[in-house]
Amino acid sequence: IRRTKIVDLLKREDFGAMVNVKGWVRTRRGSKQVNFIALNDGSTINNVQIVVDLANFDEELLKLITTGACLSVNGELVKSVGSGQAAEIQAREIEVLGTCDNTYPLQKKGHSMEFLREIAHLRPRTNTFGAVFRIRHNMAIAIHKFFHERGFFYFHTPLITASDCEGAGQMFQVTTMNLYDLKKDENGSIIYDNDFFGKQASLTVSGQLEGELAATALGAIYTFGPTFRAENSNTPRHLAEFWMIEPEVAFNDINDNMDLAEEFIKYCVQWALDNCYDDVKFLNDMFDKGLIERLQGVLKESFVRLPYTEGIKILEEAVANGHKFEFPVYWGVDLASEHERFLVEEHFKRPVILTDYPKEIKAFYMKQNEDGKTVRAMDVLFPKIGEIIGGSEREADYDKLLTRIQELNIPMKDMWWYLDTRKYGSCPHSGFGLGFERLLLFVTGMANIRDVIPFPRTPRNAEF
Ligand code: 4AD
Ligand code: MG
Repeated sequence: IRRTKIVDLLKREDFGAMVNVKGWVRTRRGSKQVNFIALNDGSTINNVQIVVDLANFDEELLKLITTGACLSVNGELVKSVGSGQAAEIQAREIEVLGTCDNTYPLQKKGHSMEFLREIAHLRPRTNTFGAVFRIRHNMAIAIHKFFHERGFFYFHTPLITASDCEGAGQMFQVTTMNLYDLKKDENGSIIYDNDFFGKQASLTVSGQLEGELAATALGAIYTFGPTFRAENSNTPRHLAEFWMIEPEVAFNDINDNMDLAEEFIKYCVQWALDNCYDDVKFLNDMFDKGLIERLQGVLKESFVRLPYTEGIKILEEAVANGHKFEFPVYWGVDLASEHERFLVEEHFKRPVILTDYPKEIKAFYMKQNEDGKTVRAMDVLFPKIGEIIGGSEREADYDKLLTRIQELNIPMKDMWWYLDTRKYGSCPHSGFGLGFERLLLFVTGMANIRDVIPFPRTPRNAEF
């Protein structure tokens, strides 16, 4: 008999049919006569119940059916009365494909997130991480679908690069070495060649600059890939390696950019509710009773659009009325997550797009406003997350851009190719970057960014 995935099996109603399922034992319970095995194969959060009449099976075989063991089961599909599902399987033949002894760390339920992070190689087998990683997959599909349906081209930008897009200098250096023939100094320390075949190179912090090249050729593009930041931030919202989606569109201004960002996030959230409801519901019931309501709420409301200067006024009023922030509030400050969350969660109670930030706290490429003080930036701020998107209209004027690059002492030798976009047929254009894991924090309701990526890389945690 051909294997049926549990996700498909649970929908079947042809009771009496012989079926085969393969999967891992979650729990086993029962009496001296009958045992019930909850089997999961990862295709869904739901287990299928296998009913085993002990008298029909060999005692030695039954001993091997332990938590974590891998089974192949042939049996009859029957209508279920007690399993919480429509169907279950009355077992006829059981084969143990892989045994699992009692050193298996996932014996008991209810492990702490910290413990599960230490066993990142096994945690996808838990209900929680199964749900999170199925949702992660679905969000990636939604993202490609969203852009593809709107005529955007998926453009691949390099991971090894010489330019520091965000100008923050927080890049990982690429070095060359032969692992089996390491050069060492007299103390035995490894000597690294700090270069990429003779040139300085780093891991990219953003695909934007190359994305701009593509937008001024293909019109509308998006990138979707890993990015790297060497910032020493140990927070529940920062990773050293995270995935970013960066659309870039020729002829879009800042308002088009905001429309795109809002439509994009809502599309992804709707997709999660439509395509991952079982997993979202599980996470809602397990960790975060407000999750589904929050997701539905975001779909209903239009995002507030507010200049930074107005945002600062609101925060200053809050301080005047006795609200205590850890970090000071004044015009020019780079907002901390507590400030962003105050605006979203306490003041407006819906997502906020903050625009027109002081140029000093934003990157060199943003379009300068007439006031000489602010740039056409936009950050999308979300409940429980803070900044989920950062973007801007880009400076399209060659001279203004060059002046800004010089003011900031950005090495020109790294920038000539980028300036060519403004030299040859420059055009207004805009784009933004969505942090994939920040989106996943929102959609899954997980509290820590380490728990929405399979193998988190952070300063204190990069095991393998
Ligand atoms: O605001 P950022 O730094 O903007 C850029 O990189 C632009 N080049 C994007 C663009 O306009 N094309 O990063 C964009 C988003 C943030 O809003 C946040 O969601 C996420 O990337 N992000 C991080 N996510 C996890 N860990 C980190 N260390 C992150 N840094 C930024
Ligand atoms: Mg930002």
